[in-house]
Amino acid sequence: MVVIRPVEPGDEPFLWDMGWEATAVSAEMRALGREAAMSMPHVRRYLEGWGRPGDAGVVAVAADGQHLGAAWYRCFSAEDPGWGFVAPDVPELSIGVAVEARGRGVGGALLDALLKLARVQGHRAVSLSVDRQNPARLLYERKGFRDAGVSDPTDTSVTMIAHL
Ligand SMILES: CC(C)(COP(=O)(O)OP(=O)(O)OC[C@H]1O[C@@H](n2cnc3c(N)ncnc32)[C@H](O)[C@@H]1OP(=O)(O)O)[C@@H](O)C(=O)NCCC(=O)NCCS
Repeated sequence: MVVIRPVEPGDEPFLWDMGWEATAVSAEMRALGREAAMSMPHVRRYLEGWGRPGDAGVVAVAADGQHLGAAWYRCFSAEDPGWGFVAPDVPELSIGVAVEARGRGVGGALLDALLKLARVQGHRAVSLSVDRQNPARLLYERKGFRDAGVSDPTDTSVTMIAHL
C-alpha cells in the first residue's frame, strides 16, 4: 500500500532527490552530474529556500516507510519565471518518482493529490513544463493538463496547464 501525504518539514532532502530524478531526464543534465546540474540557477530555483509562502507538495510513502516519489509546486514572478511560467498566481508543478517505483501508478496518485491540494488552496490552475518527447506528457494529459498555448511549436519542451 502506498500513502500520499503532504510534504513535512523533514522532506526537503527527498524533494531534492526527486528534483534530480526530474532533471536527469535530460541527457545533457545527466552528463553534468547531480551536483553541477542541481546547482544551476534555473534548476535549483524549483526547491531553493523551500518553505516560502505558496510552496506545497505531496510525498508517496510505501508501507515499509520507503519514500517513492514527490510532487510539489511553487509560484514564480514574471520577472524571474520558471520554464513553465504562465502567470504569477499559477503555481508550477515538479514531479519525480524513484526509478524502481515507476509505472505502478505512484506518479498518477501524486498528481491527483497535488491537484486536489491546489483546489483546496484556492488556485485556479497549475502549470508545468515538459519535454515534448517525455512519456510523462501522456500522464499529464490524462490528469487534465493541456498545451497552455505559450510555447513555440519548435521548442523542445511545452508548457501545459490544468484549469481547476
Ligand atoms: C513521470 C513520472 C513522475 C510518472 O510517475 P509514474 O509513477 O511512473 O507514473 P504512473 O505509474 O502513475 O503512470 C504511468 C504513466 O506515466 C507515463 N510515464 C512517464 N515516464 C514513465 C516511466 N519512466 N515509466 C513508466 N511510465 C512513465 C506514461 O504515460 C505511463 O502511462 P502508461 O503506463 O499508460 O504508459 C515518473 O516516471 C518519473 O519520475 N519520471 C522521470 C522524471 C520526470 O520525467 N519528471 C517529469 C518532468 S516534467
